[in-house]
Amino acid sequence: MIRRLLLVCIGAATFLSMASAESTPGAASDLPHLEKSGNATQLIVDGRPYLALAGELHNSSSTSRAYLKPFWPKLTAMNLNTVLAAVPWGLVEPEENKFDFSLVDHLIEDARTHHLKLVLLWFGSWKNGLSHYVPQWVKSDSSRFPRVKTRHGTLEILTPLSEANREADAKAFAALLRHVKEVDTAQRTVIMIQVENEVGLHADARDRSDSAMAAYAQPVPRELLDYLQKNRDRLHPGIRALWQNSNFKTAGTWDELFGHSPAAEEAFMAWTYARYVNRVAEAGKKEYTLPMFVNAWIVQPEDEFPGEYPSGGPQAHVLDLWQAGAPQIDLLTPDIYLPNFAEVCAQFARAGSGFFVPESRSGAEGAANAFVAIGSFNSIGYSPFGIDNRDADPASNPLTAAYAILHQLAPLILEHQSKGSIAAVALNTQNAARKLVLGGYTLQASLPVNRRTNQSPERGYALIIAVGRDEFVAAGSDLQIAFATDPTSSETVGLASVEEGTYENGTWVPGRNLNGDEVMISYDLSVMAASHRTGTGLKFPGGAPTIQRVKLYRFSDTK
Ligand code: DGJ
Repeated sequence: MIRRLLLVCIGAATFLSMASAESTPGAASDLPHLEKSGNATQLIVDGRPYLALAGELHNSSSTSRAYLKPFWPKLTAMNLNTVLAAVPWGLVEPEENKFDFSLVDHLIEDARTHHLKLVLLWFGSWKNGLSHYVPQWVKSDSSRFPRVKTRHGTLEILTPLSEANREADAKAFAALLRHVKEVDTAQRTVIMIQVENEVGLHADARDRSDSAMAAYAQPVPRELLDYLQKNRDRLHPGIRALWQNSNFKTAGTWDELFGHSPAAEEAFMAWTYARYVNRVAEAGKKEYTLPMFVNAWIVQPEDEFPGEYPSGGPQAHVLDLWQAGAPQIDLLTPDIYLPNFAEVCAQFARAGSGFFVPESRSGAEGAANAFVAIGSFNSIGYSPFGIDNRDADPASNPLTAAYAILHQLAPLILEHQSKGSIAAVALNTQNAARKLVLGGYTLQASLPVNRRTNQSPERGYALIIAVGRDEFVAAGSDLQIAFATDPTSSETVGLASVEEGTYENGTWVPGRNLNGDEVMISYDLSVMAASHRTGTGLKFPGGAPTIQRVKLYRFSDTK
């Protein structure tokens, strides 16, 4: 509330003074949390909305401080403000009830030295659906800590249907959060926690261990039925169709309600994993309430059945079951390595309660993805996987320049995410143009076409913010944007002025005034005039993205 008042009073040009909104360090309201703000759910860090320009370390990197040492300056040079790093259960609880959090302390100290925030990834009972990160005392005692049984046999994976498994994990996770609270409440370097990693069952749709068979024969839990009934008209079509098998029965076993199919078995697993993870998260939050999320190994194009992808994981088509079963989890997020990035984002952002991409690609594709996640889906940030790449030179990674621009624009982005006045577009040669409606205008984004060679770049992307009446700030690479009014209007839109520039501490610093070749998209003026266009627009060259600020004007047909 205080922040919103400040925003109204101070206005867009004085972002810096928002720093004064910070309240007493250590106060509960100062802890990192998610907050619904207008159109968006944002991550609040140190009392202010925060855009996580993040990267995830390789799985084993956090286990050696010496190994990681040379990478910290590289992470800063890549313009990251946040690092996602693994905390393996087996290393922090090597003996039952004996905890060693030196790995966590080192991460926190080193992140602070490099002015970075941390998201800790709890590699507990499952990492990519496997149980390789559990302590040896858990691994070697399979009668106390039972495994899943598939139709092909027993796997080296903890069953989610064991109270002993769940409580041992929850206890360790609670100890982790207690420790983070002790060492980090004052500075708040740790801003979020991922609970487990890409959970779900491999090799079968359903666990067939004794406890799983018994649970599957039980009535569907009341909490789930209540959720389904309450949200019947909003359910994912897949879940709705399953339930329709029984004509929406409101009592009965899993088979009786959802029929007998791999999809019905997957629904049982989704509920089961969600309840387990919820209990772990709950135990952690009791100690220290940080935002918590789970990440999904999403369905790949070649997958036909659950089990080919981890069955019961938080994939898009079972998010209803996760929302019902894991209210302690704040965000259900996708790991996206597929090219249909925006489509996957749309499936997960559907829940409307906040969005993040914890794993995806780096490089040029990553730069475009980051713009799209943040500009089109109000993401709280973006995080490519394997950011501590041995051979990589930060300067040559296109993501470095993209993060520099997002960093400059962050205050404006966060303000306009909540106002709903931001959009983004990523195009490629298969999909070379797109219309957007923003700020009362129709924007035609397209890949530039070389007039001599008729060639287009492989990809282009931009993020556009309607900052005022007839005024936009846009940033992009290899893309052009033409402006038009509503198609039924007889007015034509022209460029009043276009400036290239930078934001320094939130203040616009103009560079070149762009005109002539730098704004001319088409000389086909007969076609342009017939469709109320001028042939001008914003033209973003390739390579590192740049920022432009445009003022538009309109003129009517001559009588
Ligand atoms: C997804 C997992 O969540 C990561 O931990 C890592 O294993 C990557 N896959 C590797 O591509």
